[in-house]
Amino acid sequence: MTASPCILLTGAAGYIASHTWLALQEAGFTVLGVDNFVNSSPNVLPRLREIGGQPTHFVEGDVRDPAVLDRCFEVARPLGGIRAVVHFAALKAVGESVERPLDYFENNLGGLLAVCQAMQRHGVFDLVFSSSATVYGEPERLPITEDAPLRATNPYGQTKLLGEELLRGLGACDARWHVATLRYFNPVGAHPSGRIGEDPRGVPNNLMPYVAQVAVGKRPHLNVFGNDYDTPDGTGVRDYIHVCDLAEGHVAALRYLFAQQRSLTVNLGTGQGYSVLQLAQAYGRAAGREVPLVFAPRRAGDVAACYADPAQAHALLGWRATRGLDDMCVDSWRWQSTNPGGFDS
Ligand code: NAD
Ligand code: WQD
Repeated sequence: MTASPCILLTGAAGYIASHTWLALQEAGFTVLGVDNFVNSSPNVLPRLREIGGQPTHFVEGDVRDPAVLDRCFEVARPLGGIRAVVHFAALKAVGESVERPLDYFENNLGGLLAVCQAMQRHGVFDLVFSSSATVYGEPERLPITEDAPLRATNPYGQTKLLGEELLRGLGACDARWHVATLRYFNPVGAHPSGRIGEDPRGVPNNLMPYVAQVAVGKRPHLNVFGNDYDTPDGTGVRDYIHVCDLAEGHVAALRYLFAQQRSLTVNLGTGQGYSVLQLAQAYGRAAGREVPLVFAPRRAGDVAACYADPAQAHALLGWRATRGLDDMCVDSWRWQSTNPGGFDS
């Protein structure tokens, strides 16, 4: 192993991967990114150079294309060779996945297969996989532990569940594989520099980017999807996690894989649930203006409450989230207010 192992990030220009890129560099890793920009902008790359103060090694292309992945391994050779892969590349919009299930199966499962095949071709067997709390479906018990029953309720969730199973199967047949399956809860916030953050295309599906666009005046009000849930204030409760905490979780997972040479599955969440109203209020405090809201019907497929038991991640990785809801809102607002049009403004 070189002094500065090179990590391949797929989906590297995306929201979570771009923050992980910086966390990995800070921890002394070399990063090579690959992305086809299907849901991101190339303009993130100069920002990463600016914040990180290092060159951005990058290959543009689709991870389903074996030639693109082979090119990544080739480009990484002078960087010491790829030591592990963090596979972020996926389509992630739940509603869109119901409209275009085959595109989701093709991209997310086809991409995962192609990445594993390329890793095997090049003799690399350490993988971090972006999974999701969506694999728990409607939780039977809260907080959610990793041994909770798994079920997917939409094609996006199915790609994560099937992806996890595929990787478990692979590890069971071939002991060279070591996979860290990370089940993210609700990633929000932005890098404290305000130079990178979440930049959704079109109408945001997720709560915080929607609230951010309301606060900056791009949208008139937040539609609160349901206020009759069995939760303290009737609105949905989620485990929001600062994207920089999440990024650090990937560094911890890679260190675990390198040191322990064994697979693991962990929740990455804070363990603390907040309601839609609590988040909107916190955002209002961060932005110095109230977030106007309107109560709307429940959104199909939503669960009342979902939050992690993060104890396993702490026990195995020595990792825990350190940033609170106010940090998430302040950092999101810094990004949103200084980049109202996202990366392409
Ligand atoms: P994102 O859309 O910002 O990032 C994904 C990146 O992958 C994008 O840059 C996109 O262009 C790229 N990509 C997609 N398909 C590709 C392909 N075939 N080839 C090359 N690049 C491709 O999403 P994100 O929020 O950063 O999510 C990253 C990962 O984390 C995804 O796997 C997602 O399913 C998972 N995840 C996200 C959340 C969340 O709420 N954001 C929660 C749980 C899990
Ligand atoms: C949070 C809460 C909504 C928008 C989704 C995916 C999940 C994972 C994370 C990838 C809920 C409410 C939202 C709005 C609202 N992604 N809401 N008005 O649904 O927990 O999870 O993203 O893996 O798979 O399903 O997150 O941010 O969409 O919603 O009232 O305009 O905010 O009803 O209670 P969710 P979210």
